[in-house]
Amino acid sequence: MKILNTVRQAQEYVLQRRMQSHTVGLVPTMGALHDGHLSLVAMSRSRCDDSIATIFVNPTQFAPGEDLDKYPRTLERDLEKLTNAGCDAVFIPSTDEMYPPGSSTMVVPPKVALPLEGKFRPEHFRGVATVVLKLFQILPASHAFFGQKDFQQLRVIETMVDDLNVPIEIVSCPIVREADGLAMSSRNRYLNVDERQRSLCLSQALAEVEAAFKGGQREVKTLTEILHRHLPPAANTNTVDRVDYAVIVDSQSLKPIERIESSAVTLLAAHVGTTRLIDNCILRFE
Ligand code: PAJ
Repeated sequence: MKILNTVRQAQEYVLQRRMQSHTVGLVPTMGALHDGHLSLVAMSRSRCDDSIATIFVNPTQFAPGEDLDKYPRTLERDLEKLTNAGCDAVFIPSTDEMYPPGSSTMVVPPKVALPLEGKFRPEHFRGVATVVLKLFQILPASHAFFGQKDFQQLRVIETMVDDLNVPIEIVSCPIVREADGLAMSSRNRYLNVDERQRSLCLSQALAEVEAAFKGGQREVKTLTEILHRHLPPAANTNTVDRVDYAVIVDSQSLKPIERIESSAVTLLAAHVGTTRLIDNCILRFE
């Protein structure tokens, strides 16, 4: 696997392949890789001639006081995993390479960035949109692979690519879960045994909403009641400590709805101990 550290090396690597008419798949990550990330690499390999991952803990998407400094960094293991997954190259820039002193342009993200995560992490999607657009410029791939785990992020990126006519195909990939249902996340390693156990209420709540939806329930009020049964204050033991939001919204606009007439999504964000977890489940008509 080729390791690329500079913007110039990365651009040359991709342009050379594109000139040979190769399709190139891009898998942006912040490292601390798990099977969720590796599923994106697998998807890229199944769709594209060449697959390139990126590892960059992007400071502009963390607010002061968030976990930038303690974000897990496991580079050696990550490189091993990417090699075993058959990744062709990885771009690992320094912070100065991505944001040279004096660089100050930022992307104003689309409206779909405003609710939900946007309310609790107001600058977050500005940083995500900026770094992702920069990665699309540095690595002009034909396809880019993103997980549905970060559902709102995916919608922000899809909308940005449409709005700014970026010539890349965004491929959305299903959530990979642990055997007991917890959505895989680099932040799960912050959880102690008790917190890990209590965090299961998130995937359980999502599964019950999905079962009711599949059983024919379309009223969002009723589905939301089912969702909250597992969450505080309704559940006061074996649950998370605090919920930021737990909603069922339109899967395109992320706006509230009363009845599910077309595809909707249940979105959750909650704190367990000092860790913030997000999870979701798309409610699709078969
Ligand atoms: P990170 O959290 O490392 O995630 C990288 C990619 O892996 C994202 O597309 C995310 O949705 C996907 N992913 C994470 N957990 C997953 C799971 N359990 N199943 C499927 N896919 C999963 O998201 C980011 O990094 C950053 O915001 C980034 C886009 C790299 C910009 O800095």
